Amino acid sequence: MTRRKSDHPIPEKPEPPFPIVTDFCDIVCGFGRGSAELGIPTANVPIEQLPKSVNDLKLGVYFGYAKIKPVEHEVGTVTRSDGRDVRIDYARDLKKDSGDLSILPVVLSVGKNPFYGNDFKTVELHIIHNFKDDFYGAKVKFNILGYIRPELDYTTKEALIEDIHIDITTALKALESRDFSVYQSQLKDQELSSR
Ligand SMILES: Cc1cc2nc3c(=O)[nH]c(=O)nc-3n(C[C@H](O)[C@H](O)[C@H](O)COP(=O)(O)O)c2cc1C
Repeated sequence: MTRRKSDHPIPEKPEPPFPIVTDFCDIVCGFGRGSAELGIPTANVPIEQLPKSVNDLKLGVYFGYAKIKPVEHEVGTVTRSDGRDVRIDYARDLKKDSGDLSILPVVLSVGKNPFYGNDFKTVELHIIHNFKDDFYGAKVKFNILGYIRPELDYTTKEALIEDIHIDITTALKALESRDFSVYQSQLKDQELSSR
């Protein structure tokens, strides 16, 4: 597996402050470049809905699990900061049978995206699954189990894309271990997890 100089060694099991688990929070519109420019769609979540422990994390790339919950709401539209209208469909088209609503592996960026020169921090999740539809307006609950690397600036878009693909491989490899995968159950519905 590719190891980069910037990679933090992944321990055998989550080490404090991990695992961190969130409540369900809103999926809001980012700038939309993740999907359009990078081919790596991300779900942005409002920082103020996250536990303080997430805000205290150093800027960088993390991994864990995430679960989406559709919201019963009429489809709407919002105008994004780049002037484009975005359909807010509250995950109404996601399919349980395709695994869209399962507990799925995630890589997430907590940072200012130096490649794009943002001057504020965002938390963006790339859920590792082949979704056929968007899910703006839905809710997502996730946990963070480990740190992969600091966020970096890049000279090309291709280098950023390549690094995110390596992050995905690193996350999937770490989650193969039972000491990490056992934390999938943190996101189970309460009725299912009470034994
Ligand atoms: C796993 C992952 C790693 C990322 N690493 C970096 C990074 O090192 N540097 C950076 O500038 N942006 C990084 N990003 C953020 C992307 O630049 C971001 O997803 C992109 O700006 C799209 O955001 P938008 O959809 O809000 O436009 C990362 C995103 C993800 C999901």
